[in-house]
This record gives sequence, structure tokens and C-alpha cells, in this order.
Amino acid sequence: MSDERADESAPAPYEQARWHDDGTYEPLLSEKDDTTVAVSSSLPDDLTRDELELPALPEPEVARHYTRLSQMNYGIESGPFPLGSCTMKYNPKFTEDVAAHPGAQIHPLRADADQQGVLELLSELQDALASIGGMDAVTLQPPAGAAGEFTGILVARAYHEANDDDRSEVIVPDTAHGTNFASAAMAGYDVVELPSDDDGRVELEALEAAVSDETALLMLTNPNTLGLFERDITDIADVVHDAGGLLYYDGANLNSLLGKARPGDMGFDIMHFNLHKTFATPHGGGGPGQGPIGVVSELAEFLPNPQIRERADGTYERYAPDRNIGRVHEFLGNWLVLVKAYAYILRHGDEGLENVSEMAVLNANYVASQIEYEVPYGPFHHEFVASADADAADVAKRMLDYGVHPPTTKWPEIVDEALMTEPTETETKSRLDDLAAAFNAVASEDEDALASAPNRTTARRIDQVTAARNPRLSWHALDD
Ligand SMILES: Cc1ncc(COP(=O)(O)O)c(C=O)c1O
Repeated sequence: MSDERADESAPAPYEQARWHDDGTYEPLLSEKDDTTVAVSSSLPDDLTRDELELPALPEPEVARHYTRLSQMNYGIESGPFPLGSCTMKYNPKFTEDVAAHPGAQIHPLRADADQQGVLELLSELQDALASIGGMDAVTLQPPAGAAGEFTGILVARAYHEANDDDRSEVIVPDTAHGTNFASAAMAGYDVVELPSDDDGRVELEALEAAVSDETALLMLTNPNTLGLFERDITDIADVVHDAGGLLYYDGANLNSLLGKARPGDMGFDIMHFNLHKTFATPHGGGGPGQGPIGVVSELAEFLPNPQIRERADGTYERYAPDRNIGRVHEFLGNWLVLVKAYAYILRHGDEGLENVSEMAVLNANYVASQIEYEVPYGPFHHEFVASADADAADVAKRMLDYGVHPPTTKWPEIVDEALMTEPTETETKSRLDDLAAAFNAVASEDEDALASAPNRTTARRIDQVTAARNPRLSWHALDD
């Protein structure tokens, strides 16, 4: 056996930096870096600077700094994160390992022939999603659920236009997520809001009154945001289809249906999958997630360009669907997120995915049965909505003091001071009990305790409007 250390051609250890006694640090270039192009800037002088005051710290200090920052935050790895409708489920670590595989680190500009494995994986993911949703074709491109909605609505619009059918309205129930209204408006439609009936579902008579030959689309999530299954879904689909409209499924609540029911079988024509909700990929604040959409065969030719398919010889290619709506994301989307979703689906298999839904539904109903707040509707699927007998935002802030993340608040608006709770399947019974205990501890407190909360968190009550409108995204001293 040869001694590799004796091999003179082996690269010398690559020394990246040298520390000086005064704490400064000098990056070192190896001979290999001779080809590095000097950055002689063509930027205007007022946009460049000669000196940059970067802190020079040893690694342990940097590690401590970031660890301390992470401990000031609350995440799914700190405890329950029951944000209703947002499905904040634990992202299993094996998906990180799969995404870190050297074979997955590829340049997006490679030719199809050089990335057959990538295209094969994506094609199989398309097929898996189509089968889970009961759809005929899937595009993986949109980078979030809301982007999927927008893409799906553009596909619907292209379909109607191709049939010389100029329609102007999208119907959205009053319990829907804000992005449904926004996506429809952004796509140029007038939004018609549909009131729910007394048991929190779509009322067929109200739908019949709202539908017309102007209806391009009805957007629905099922179970809806109250966690209630729309029992009349096939009748709802008939009403919309009879009027020449299409049915859009908001996939945010798919976690409750995996392996049990499929939107395609309920009559939906278009749907999005929030991979970060259902298939445990990182959420990414509106991206970089992935929100693929599925469509029935009549709509497949309008899907964005490019699509991926298997050729007769077993190789894979990208192609442009005949009447595609154009591109909605560069390259192949957030590829590593797609790898993680695929790994999650494969690891679970059909039975595992069904179990995900069963546990999600069981957990939601268990917590709903344990809390002292009024829960006006039910029985539930993956989430339930309680009514706080106080300001729901105060309840949420106080729950932080009990070491749990609060539920989504004040939505859907048809529940007074709504607390929309989705524990997900990833919590143990003892964590669910902690969550219920936190609800109940807050329920027993007076208004003053709630109004001053939170008192045990790193940051106290913030001005949410200013935080949203003028976010500080870099570090500042707190008294700055
Ligand atoms: C019901 C519903 N629809 C759509 C969305 C939008 O999804 P995304 O956050 O992936 O854009 C959400 C997000 O939480 C949602 O809860």
C-alpha cells in the first residue's frame, strides 16, 4: 500500500489566516490563489471605503455570541410552536444530511445531460406530489405557498383566456388566509368574499348566490382554517364547475389529509403544496421555501416553463409546456429544499405519511379537549380555534412567559378573539400537556397580568407595527 504522505504532489495544508498579537487577522492566499482577480473596483468612490471596522474575535467568542443570540429566540427546537395554519413542525435532521450530500452540491447552469440525477429526483418528487394530491401534473417552481397561489391563479387565467372566456372574479371564503385574497388581487381579479355558515363552513346557498359566469376560481382550503372538513365539498365543486369556474385548493392544511383523502378526488383542479408545512422543510419567511402546484390534465399545458419529464429512453429532460405561463422562479427552484421534501416523503412512505396525519389530528383534538377556553366549533382535524375571553394578543404574550410559543391570534375573524392552535404530530403527550397547562394558567389570570406580559422573555412587549414596518435587521445596542 502506498504512503500518501510521501506523495509530493499532494496539496500542502491550506492555511487560511494568521492571527497577530494585536488581535488583527490576515487572510493568507495559497499559491493556488494566484489566479484570483484583484478587486480593482469600478464602483463610484462614494460607494467604496478603504477601511472596514470588523470585530476581531477568537472563535469561542463568536460561537458564544451566536449561541446566546439563539437562546434569546424561540424556535421549534425550543418547544411547542402551535401556530395554527402555519404548521410549524420539527424538521428532522436526516433531511439535512441528505441535502449535505456532495452529489447534491451542483451548479444550476449545468446541462441536462450533466445533471440526470437531479432531474430524476425532481421528476420523482413531482410524481409523488401528484399522487399525494390526486393531481395529474406538478410544477416544483414556486418558492412558497403564496407564490404557489399566484402561479395557480395565473394558470387558471391562462386556461380561461385560451377558451376565450374572460372572467373577472375569484371567490374566497371569509375564513381564508390573507394570501388568498392578495394573490387573487395581484393576478388582476376582483375578490368576492364568501361568508361562512353558522357551523363555520361554506354555505351552499351563499356560494350559489356568489357564483356567476364571471367566476374564474373558488379558492378553498379543506379542512378550513377552523380545522373543519368541508363536508359538502363535492357539491361545492359541482356548483363552481357548472358555472364554468375552477376550484383551487390551498394546501396549507394538507397535513390533516395525507393518505386519507386527496384534493383531486374532491374535485379540486389546482392546488399548492406548502413543502415547509407538510413535508417538514425549513419555512424561510415566504421563501426560500417551496410551494409546488399540482393541476388536473386540462391545465397541464399552462404550467410554468420549464417542466421536467422522463424520455422514452429513461433519461430526463426539461421542456416548455405548450402554452406555459412563463417562468416563476430561476433555475429549478430551491433545489435543496426539494431534496429535503423528497427525503421526508421517502423515509415516511405511504404508511408513515398517513400516520403523520392521524397524529396531527389526534394531537389537535387532545389539546382542544384539555383547555379551559371556549372552543366554539368542532370536531377538528389538524387545528382548532378557541375564543379567548380577553384580548387574544395579550393571551399570546402571556403564554410566552410560560415557556411555550402562542397560537396564531385573531384569525379567522369569525371567532371572537381567536386562538388558532395547531400542535402538529411532532409533539409528545407531555409537551401537549405543557401547552394545555400554559393555556389554562393564562386563562386563570386577571387582565393586569396579561396586559403587562411578557415578563420573562428577553424582549418585552414590542411595538409590532413599527417592528414590521421598520425592522432592524442588524445588531444595535438596546438603548440605541
Ligand atoms: C391557509 C394558508 N394559506 C396560505 C399560506 C401561505 O403560505 P406560505 O407561508 O408558504 O406563503 C398560509 C401560511 O401560513 C396559510 O396558513
